[in-house]
Amino acid sequence: MRQVVGKRTIDLGAAAFADLRAPYERLILDIGTGDGKHVLSLARRHPEALVVGLDAGPDAMRRTAARAAAKPARGGTPNALFVWAAVERLPPELTEVTEVHVLMPWGSLLRAMVTPDEPVLSAVAAACAPDAEFLVTLNLHAWRPPVVEVGETPEPTPESARADDGLAPAYARAGWRLESADYLDDTGIAGLGTSWTKRLGSSRDELGVLALRGRIDPHRAPAGPSD
Ligand SMILES: C[S@@+](CC[C@H](N)C(=O)[O-])C[C@H]1O[C@@H](n2cnc3c(N)ncnc32)[C@H](O)[C@@H]1O
Repeated sequence: MRQVVGKRTIDLGAAAFADLRAPYERLILDIGTGDGKHVLSLARRHPEALVVGLDAGPDAMRRTAARAAAKPARGGTPNALFVWAAVERLPPELTEVTEVHVLMPWGSLLRAMVTPDEPVLSAVAAACAPDAEFLVTLNLHAWRPPVVEVGETPEPTPESARADDGLAPAYARAGWRLESADYLDDTGIAGLGTSWTKRLGSSRDELGVLALRGRIDPHRAPAGPSD
C-alpha cells in the first residue's frame, strides 16, 4: 500500500504493515480522511489502536502525516498511519479492521455511502473483524441543494435512514447493521475533531450533520469489486 509520510509516498509492503499492526489490539480505519486531523486526535486518545487514515488524494494529509512521523519526543504519533488509496480499491493488507469512520464524505465516497454503493460497502465489510463498529457522519448541506453525487436520493433523516426503504436495508445487505441515526449538535460535531467543523461555519445549524452508527458483520458481506 502507498504510505504517505510528509512529502514522500512510500511503498509499504504486506510484511512491513503486518509488523506495524501486530502490537495493537485494534485497527481503526478513517476513510476519506482529508487532512487527517481526526486520525491524529484518535491515535493520541487511543494508544492501544493503530489508526489508519485513507484518502483518494494524498496531498491534504501530507502535513499531518509528517507530524505523526516525527519522533515521539517531538510530538510524533507512531500509531497513526496515512495511506493513499480510494475506497473503491482498498489495499488488501487492510484486514481485521475493528472500527470504520467515514466523516463528511464527498465525491464518489459520498455517493458510495448514500446511494449506497453496495459492492463498495461489501468490500469495506470484507476488510473488517466481526462486529466492527462504524460511524458515518453526513454533511446534510450536500442536499441543500443536492450535489450530483447524491443523485435521486432524498436528504436522509434519522427516521428515513432506518425505514424499510431507507439506507438501513441496503446497508444490511452489505453487512452494515445500522443501529442509530441522529443529528449531531455542536458538541457532537466538535468531538469528531474534523476540520469540517470550521468549514460548516455560518451555515451550521442543529440539523446539519447526521451521524449513522452501527456494526459491521463481515460474514454477511458478499464479495466486493476488489475480490
Ligand atoms: C469533505 S472531505 C472530509 C475530510 C475529513 N473526513 C474531515 O472530516 O475533515 C471528503 C474527503 O473524502 C475524500 N474522498 C472522496 N472520494 C473518495 C474515495 N472514493 N475514496 C477515498 N476518499 C475519498 C476526499 O479526497 C476528501 O478528502
